[in-house]
Amino acid sequence: NTEQSIYERAGGDEPFRRLVDAFYARIERDPLLRPMFPADLEPGKLHQFLFITQYFGGPPRYTAMRGHPRLRARHLPFVIGQAERDAWVAHMRAAIDEAGFPEDVRPALIQYFERTATFMINADPER
Ligand code: HEM
Repeated sequence: NTEQSIYERAGGDEPFRRLVDAFYARIERDPLLRPMFPADLEPGKLHQFLFITQYFGGPPRYTAMRGHPRLRARHLPFVIGQAERDAWVAHMRAAIDEAGFPEDVRPALIQYFERTATFMINADPER
């Protein structure tokens, strides 16, 4: 298989570092989402970076450090409803714009984050 991964097409670690930096800068200022995150954002930021680069075809560093992703299970401690999902996706879309990804890889990034964020919803809609 000679097809290049999104990670390679995007140019490796650098654009993904910019993505995670831009995303977390927005989380920090978001009154809805900030309280869900721990006081120290750095460990989560590193895990996010290692996961996303691995997912898009980079080295398997997330699994080496954290084991199987089990993303939905890892998010169960947080109450994620439609509003939280939408805020998360809006920050990620803005961060994709800021990170400067090549135009041709952007749709794959956006599609993955939209779908996965929907899958993370775990709150009762009546709450
Ligand atoms: C943690 C990915 C959606 C809130 C994480 C981690 C990853 C991740 C890789 C670190 C897991 C670890 O500890 O090893 C994703 C992906 C998502 C998504 C790919 C959707 C595309 C969401 C949504 C919310 C959310 C919708 C809430 C609105 C959190 C919080 C943490 C976390 C609060 C803990 C951060 C920390 O401990 O520092 N997520 N997530 N995530 N995620 Fe998500």
